Amino acid sequence: MKTLSDQAIGTAHGKLILIGEHAVVYNEPAIAFPFPAAPVEVRIEKITGQTVLTSTYFQGRLKDIPEALTNLSMLIHTVCQDLNQSVNGLHITISSKIPPERGMGSSAAVATAVTRALYSLCERELTDSQLLTYVDLSEKIAHGNPSGLDARVTSSASPIYFKKGSHFKPLDLNLEGYLIAADTGVKGQTRLAVEGVARQMKDNPVSTKKIIQAIGQLSDKAKAAVETNQIEQLGLLLSKAHLYLKQLQVSSRQLDQLVDAALASNALGAKLTGGGRGGCMIALAKTQKQAEAIASDLMKNGAAQTWIHALGENRHD
Ligand code: MEV
Repeated sequence: MKTLSDQAIGTAHGKLILIGEHAVVYNEPAIAFPFPAAPVEVRIEKITGQTVLTSTYFQGRLKDIPEALTNLSMLIHTVCQDLNQSVNGLHITISSKIPPERGMGSSAAVATAVTRALYSLCERELTDSQLLTYVDLSEKIAHGNPSGLDARVTSSASPIYFKKGSHFKPLDLNLEGYLIAADTGVKGQTRLAVEGVARQMKDNPVSTKKIIQAIGQLSDKAKAAVETNQIEQLGLLLSKAHLYLKQLQVSSRQLDQLVDAALASNALGAKLTGGGRGGCMIALAKTQKQAEAIASDLMKNGAAQTWIHALGENRHD
């Protein structure tokens, strides 16, 4: 975070859920990685007149912000009020490399970067717990019933093992391998997917609880695999998790197609990541060369974009 007298910058990054999405909403564990290849920077400058927002999604006065960004407007008003900072006279520029609505934590990362920039502008210290309170508030408006996982991992430098309601733990990573992420190019629908699972839980509580608990058990096995560098085992666990997510009806034709393509390209495992119903999938490879071959096959099978992430680079010392 950088401070000048009349301007400030706040940053954050996207995230990838390795395993445990959806189940984490029901108090099961999940593992997620910060994804620095997808950063967000928010720059705030003092100006005269009304506050304006510049972003790829919306450009204009804060008071004219579209309903889809109510979370952001509410966040800015709340943080400014707490800081005794006027909500007028700011130019807020959001530059994001996180594809929006793709399950990469775009809304939580923007909320994190905005909060950090406002605190920096007012030269006030922001504690981790204050930051999480603000981002949770914004995420509740954006997604209805968030677990809090996105809020925590988009501001964390380390991979985390997270269970709702408990303190999250940085994960000791001892993994040699590569994670390939691919975007279907189709907007994900986190809110609808989370609501769909809630409906399934209401209509078929016994079978849905079983699926959720099974995903939680896979997350715990994945934690052990991550900590002991068992990448083949981790791959199998990811593929199993995808089958359960399909049963929860949060996958899509495009996601299944990319998962199948990755497995046909000798990925060690593959699954959707994030809310699903569009958005992104991930696959696992042992070497960079294999990861590049998988990424290339994913592009041939309709991926809009791919990323390769060396897992060892997230080592937590
Ligand atoms: C969304 O990135 C992850 C979900 O598990 C929802 C949540 O944890 O809030 C689907």
